[in-house]
Amino acid sequence: MKKYTKKTVKFYDLHSKEYIQHSAVVLEDKINKFIGFLGGKKILDVACGPGHDTDYLVRKGFDCLGIDLSEKMINFAKKNYKGKFQVMDFFDMKFRDSYFNGIWCSSALVHAEKRDVPQLLKNFNKILRKNGILGIITPSKQDRIKRKNDTRIFTMLNMKDLKKWLADNNFEIIFSKTFIYGNMKWIFIISRKE
Ligand SMILES: C[S@@+](CC[C@H](N)C(=O)[O-])C[C@H]1O[C@@H](n2cnc3c(N)ncnc32)[C@H](O)[C@@H]1O
Repeated sequence: MKKYTKKTVKFYDLHSKEYIQHSAVVLEDKINKFIGFLGGKKILDVACGPGHDTDYLVRKGFDCLGIDLSEKMINFAKKNYKGKFQVMDFFDMKFRDSYFNGIWCSSALVHAEKRDVPQLLKNFNKILRKNGILGIITPSKQDRIKRKNDTRIFTMLNMKDLKKWLADNNFEIIFSKTFIYGNMKWIFIISRKE
């Protein structure tokens, strides 16, 4: 496991209750937009946290697996939500090639170093079927005050870089926008494996 991942996940294990209470929100308009492009039922929710989005997708009729490295988050998900959940590092995913119809990646890339993002996108491409859909929500580059004792890696990206890396890894951009939520600017991109 990467050193920065270990520190990040330790933070989520320590603060899982706070995250569940204040930050685990299904952004319905965004996830519905993603659903609208899907051509099949098998979905991976990457860094699912406490499992709220996985649960939403299952309730909408999808066969969704949520993965996260925080045991606290996954235990909560298993107890409280519908769906399958597994403790797994998104840098070390164990799936067959072309397995999923869709990957939902909400607030996950933020916990990768910038130089590691292209490889991650390449791995997403591998496990998606042809025409599979990747939905990404991630913080846009902006000023941010880091709170005390926050051990997470927190990488903010810009739309241009992300679009380039997606194109480099055989994804066609089918929808993109930025939005403001919780005093932060976010990037929302949906792309299709070519
Ligand atoms: C900001 S939360 C996002 C949760 C959920 N996707 C959402 O949108 O609310 C980030 C999650 O990423 C997980 N995480 C961080 N690095 C990870 C890694 N390398 N593999 C799997 N999960 C990771 C953390 O444990 C945490 O639950």
